[in-house]
Amino acid sequence: MKITIRRYRTSDRAFLVDCMNGMQRHIASIDALKKTRPVSQFSVERWVDLILKKIKKYKGAIFIAEGNGKSAGCVVGIIKESTKIDLIDLFPFRDGRIIELFVDPSFRGEGIGSLLLRSMEGFFRKQGCKTAELGTFATNVRAYEFYKKHAYADRNIDMCKKL
Ligand SMILES: CC(C)(COP(=O)(O)OP(=O)(O)OC[C@H]1O[C@@H](n2cnc3c(N)ncnc32)[C@H](O)[C@@H]1OP(=O)(O)O)[C@@H](O)C(=O)NCCC(=O)NCCS
Repeated sequence: MKITIRRYRTSDRAFLVDCMNGMQRHIASIDALKKTRPVSQFSVERWVDLILKKIKKYKGAIFIAEGNGKSAGCVVGIIKESTKIDLIDLFPFRDGRIIELFVDPSFRGEGIGSLLLRSMEGFFRKQGCKTAELGTFATNVRAYEFYKKHAYADRNIDMCKKL
């Protein structure tokens, strides 16, 4: 399959909406505590508005993957820079953070997720970032394994107990 990766265009919004609905459906299905809203109660348009605002505010980027000319997946990343408060306990930093990565189920296992991830890492490097970071649900086993394959390692561990 011919796969191409390109920057997001305004005309990709409907596809981004589909991806974010797919992501919400996926996360809701693996949320053991059932805190995640099902797609029927999720304001996807507002979520996408928020993503686009974050991209602007944090000088980020969105890449779209096309497989055989059809939209197949997307990745969203932002740049995190140290604030005055961060500098109390941390050295100055500029890091890339991946906030969304989604490949349409019919295109999975073809290397598209890997290409999207590498494209975002390339963007982060060009922006002078020293690390790329992301978070994933502990129950998102396939994504966790996927990231480990791409040399991501645990740094923070969020823990939770049902009361
Ligand atoms: C995680 C995700 C982005 C990976 O995308 P992808 O295009 O399938 O990724 P790749 O094809 O580059 O690599 C997939 C790896 O998963 C495994 N895999 C095998 N079959 C697979 C399948 N049908 N679907 C997904 N992954 C599969 C393979 O081990 C493959 O590794 P390999 O390169 O050694 O073969 C995709 O599964 C996805 O969108 N998941 C739902 C959303 C999500 O969880 N996103 C991450 C949120 S933090």
